[in-house]
Amino acid sequence: MMDKEAKVWNRSAKKYFEDVVSPFAEGVKNPIFWYLDNKIGANTKEMKVIDIGCGIGNFLPTLAGKFSTVVGIDFSPKMIEFAGERVRGLSNVQLHVRDARDLNEFHGQFDVAVSVNSVLLPKIVDVEKILGEAYLVLKEGGTLLAVFPAMESFLYRALLMQEKGMEEGDSEEVALEKAKKDLREGLQCDFEAGIIQYPDCKQKNYYLFELKYRLWKAGFTNIKVRKVHYPWEVYEDETLLAFHGKEKLWDWFVYARR
Ligand SMILES: C[S@@+](CC[C@H](N)C(=O)[O-])C[C@H]1O[C@@H](n2cnc3c(N)ncnc32)[C@H](O)[C@@H]1O
Repeated sequence: MMDKEAKVWNRSAKKYFEDVVSPFAEGVKNPIFWYLDNKIGANTKEMKVIDIGCGIGNFLPTLAGKFSTVVGIDFSPKMIEFAGERVRGLSNVQLHVRDARDLNEFHGQFDVAVSVNSVLLPKIVDVEKILGEAYLVLKEGGTLLAVFPAMESFLYRALLMQEKGMEEGDSEEVALEKAKKDLREGLQCDFEAGIIQYPDCKQKNYYLFELKYRLWKAGFTNIKVRKVHYPWEVYEDETLLAFHGKEKLWDWFVYARR
């Protein structure tokens, strides 16, 4: 039976870039490309890569041009259907409807695992399972290149909102109340658990300290984290236009080794 969460993603497949602020959106400088070109080794034509939670296949053509074999998995059949259209004619790409919590059949097979904003299930047992599987699908010495949604971005947005209020003449306290209201409008954030309640599902976001801890706990070493900054223009939200010129909102890019 299909998970409730997989059904939610099925609905997003058709209008992906409307629903999701993506590290593959136009104008986003995503460090994953630099790491792919500079930190994997020269002989990628002999390497195998798995894209865990490949979605509509945004990353697959790039991976197919670089690696000998590309495996894309996603638990949403619709996402895999769209990804199939995306990679039609690319003979080195294999797609499977699979749950990232159980990738037993792929253990020990890959030089590189990528996962871009796909470790989103809200329960810690699921997050741990997926990170554990991302570790186990790698060969010894293999590399993880991944992006995780940043919890800090919400707090930073609140900071900018409070500052804006104060610049417009609100007291510190009033500006903070307005910033809190803005933060929770349409969303409920559980700041301790790092979980965002969207209208149709809950999603896990990560504080930097938690991300490093969970990657370490899954067994990863050499963990390096960078920001993926999103241009203000990618948000439909007009309130954010006031922040042009300030440091942008971000997600976490991760490089780590098995
Ligand atoms: C935000 S999208 C990212 C898609 C793609 N990586 C990209 O960046 O374009 C998240 C994807 O992860 C998939 N996903 C979430 N949890 C999953 C799980 N447990 N197993 C497999 N896929 C999962 C969803 O179906 C969805 O396609």
